[in-house]
Amino acid sequence: MTTTLTPVLSAHWDEADSYTIGAYERHGGYKGLRKALTMAPEDIVAMVKDSGLRGRGGAGFPTGMKWGFLPQGGDKPHYLVVNADESEPGTCKDIPLMLANPQSLIEGIVISSFAIKANHAFIYVRGEVLHVVRRLQQAIGEAYDKGFLGADILGSGYNLELTLHCGAGAYICGEETALLDSLEGYRGQPRLKPPFPAVAGLYACPTVVNNVESIASVPSILTNGAGWFSGMGTEKSKGFGFFSLSGHVTKPGQYEAPLGITLRELLDMAGGVRAGHELKFWTPGGSSTPIFTAEHLDVPLDFESVGAAGSMLGTRALQIFDDTTCVIRAVLRWIEFYEHESCGKCTPCREGNFWMAQILERLEHGNGTEAELDKLLDICDNILGRSFCALGDGATSPVTSSIQYFRDEYIEHFRRGGCPFDPAASTVWAGGKA
Ligand SMILES: Cc1cc2nc3c(=O)[nH]c(=O)nc-3n(C[C@H](O)[C@H](O)[C@H](O)COP(=O)(O)O)c2cc1C
Ligand code: SF4
Repeated sequence: MTTTLTPVLSAHWDEADSYTIGAYERHGGYKGLRKALTMAPEDIVAMVKDSGLRGRGGAGFPTGMKWGFLPQGGDKPHYLVVNADESEPGTCKDIPLMLANPQSLIEGIVISSFAIKANHAFIYVRGEVLHVVRRLQQAIGEAYDKGFLGADILGSGYNLELTLHCGAGAYICGEETALLDSLEGYRGQPRLKPPFPAVAGLYACPTVVNNVESIASVPSILTNGAGWFSGMGTEKSKGFGFFSLSGHVTKPGQYEAPLGITLRELLDMAGGVRAGHELKFWTPGGSSTPIFTAEHLDVPLDFESVGAAGSMLGTRALQIFDDTTCVIRAVLRWIEFYEHESCGKCTPCREGNFWMAQILERLEHGNGTEAELDKLLDICDNILGRSFCALGDGATSPVTSSIQYFRDEYIEHFRRGGCPFDPAASTVWAGGKA
């Protein structure tokens, strides 16, 4: 546990030229690549395994182990695909990282591609974030001009082409196999696994798909060593990461800290919940992770502890909701998002989210019944574990966890025939401030 931030990727974001290759090199950028090019690719994979780096895209899969799954010695090309789709409600770390420090991602891409023996890498970025697309295009151009990309990188004989691909803005295209379909030019829908991308990914070739923050963390491991990285964090959740505080917090923003920090410690640094209010509920890792309450302020934010407390670390998107928030309204907004973003491939998610949105709409306006709470839970039961991909599973998280912690608030809505948090409500509900 710590009260100290560990800015690595965000160390120089406050400098006006932080996004340029000049600023990146001024602060030691591309040292990791120079070192990597003197090493055997297998040794880089081993180093990343030893560091304990786990995927920062949500699932927390060990990065070095993923790289090690690529079959060796075949005649098919290997590919690295960076997942820069960032669409989960609340998740807002990769976009600022790519805006403020795009070269850390590009250096990470070159090192990682060299390690997995790929000569072509892709960044799949959300097309709507045009400012980020332009920033990346500029950064990639600078890296080519300086000889960090292209043929014979830094005279090493290693070649790498980097392609920037803009998605059309669909949450499902962040799911790694839907992303690959979209990158190939098809409608983005998840593929059946196995085969996993490591065996048959992009164009049916061995492919590693990693999150932006995972790949951008690699240069610092090369420069400072696996021990430096694994010296931060907790026993099984090593290193540092972005904790993105948003919502009803005094100083929202990116807090780069060791895994295992608590929300209480982060809130202390962020000036607390906005003045005059108390914490009501929060997401530890975006809208697909079960909500927590003030009871969970001291849960260490690492993969194991958050899991043991009944949620998931996800993308460390800490959305803070104070006592003025109607939990049903918040959950309805999330479910409307899942209903809209469901790709429609499987029935439980396509139909279930549609039904849940209708029921929640009724409940929010005080028109539901207690039986409908059971119906909601029954629908969740039929989505969770029965959907084709994790979008469906994730959609059940806010519903089941909000009923678990705020059943009384649901009941209060239909008891009084309206929302107790509606400013027009005649009486203030003792269960929370209106
Ligand atoms: C619906 C859905 C959306 C996702 N969106 C993203 C995303 O925007 N960025 C991301 O890195 N991973 C996303 N993921 C997780 C990816 O499928 C994959 O696990 C991740 O890119 C692997 O990278 P990592 O091992 O570096 O975390 C999403 C998963 C699902 C099910
Ligand atoms: S769970 Fe939802 S998003 Fe995933 S395949 Fe099924 S319908 Fe598509």
